[in-house]
Amino acid sequence: MKKSDFTPFHFNGAALKFIDQTLLPLEEKYIETDRYEIIAEAIEKLEIRGAPAIGVCAAYALALSLKNSGTQSVFETAYARLKRTRPTAVNLFWALETMRAGYMPGAEDNFQRLSKIAVSIHEKEIYNCAQISLHGSKLITKPSNSLTHCNTGELAVAGMGTALGVIKQAYDDGNIIHVYADETRPLYQGSRLTAYELAKAGIPFSVQIDSAAAVLIAAGKVDFVITGADRIAANGDSANKIGTFNLSVLCKAYNIPFYIAAPTTTIDRKTGSGKEIVIEERKPEELSFHKDTPIFPAEYPVFNPAFDVTPAENITAIITEEGVFRYPYDFK
Ligand code: MRU
Repeated sequence: MKKSDFTPFHFNGAALKFIDQTLLPLEEKYIETDRYEIIAEAIEKLEIRGAPAIGVCAAYALALSLKNSGTQSVFETAYARLKRTRPTAVNLFWALETMRAGYMPGAEDNFQRLSKIAVSIHEKEIYNCAQISLHGSKLITKPSNSLTHCNTGELAVAGMGTALGVIKQAYDDGNIIHVYADETRPLYQGSRLTAYELAKAGIPFSVQIDSAAAVLIAAGKVDFVITGADRIAANGDSANKIGTFNLSVLCKAYNIPFYIAAPTTTIDRKTGSGKEIVIEERKPEELSFHKDTPIFPAEYPVFNPAFDVTPAENITAIITEEGVFRYPYDFK
């Protein structure tokens, strides 16, 4: 695999620089800011996206809220603002709580201390990805064709990525022949971002519309499907990008493995099952427009959930940095 030559987000101790993922792959534009409000908006608009990346960047944003003023009320306002950005990825809440636990009312060095905590959260996620990639690649024991959904690589995490990290490691081991990347409607994280990362890594791939996955699987062209997750309930039910559930059903019907790869920061031990996971619904314009071009009248009713929940029994294994877990799951 060719070594990647870009850094999706970087904190220099005074500001966060991140790549605007909504413009990729046609434009590689970086935004540098020390304002938490800009980072919160970037998370909402999916300029920064992917569960672990949302957590890491929200942690940097919360630290930066203390750079100039440092008052507890500014910190609490920033915390509440960041918490409102996206409801499903549990990494966001985990990172914000970890940061809040490090805040000491009245202390003069809160900015420095919280910056260090944010860096350690980032470094841990990079480490987690490396471990996930190693554990997951051991499951791919022969040259295989894989199918993936959404984007779970460097852009979504840092480091190698989760599901895409497993694919990259398995490719280095000589066990990936081809990757089928679902385009991932409506925002094209697969065709824009996963394909971009696979092209950079020199891994053979092709892009298909999400609904073509059944044809590929039924034709025996896919040996395994692997995706990431935004929140994993204690019983293993896993929320991920809309369309993931369909893939798990196909895998079950055609008896091929369906893997989820995610760090343990994505496991929500307080949530018993997928029924309790809040699913983000996004604005209708994501369907009724393509960029500035209307596709159908704006008044048509739209259903636009960003995620679905794959039942635990459809998941062959959940790959974390701590190892590989198999059904029945019990993450309490
Ligand atoms: O809406 P997004 O693009 O943030 O959704 C991302 C996904 O669903 C990813 O699969 C998930 O966050 C795992 S990222 C390693």
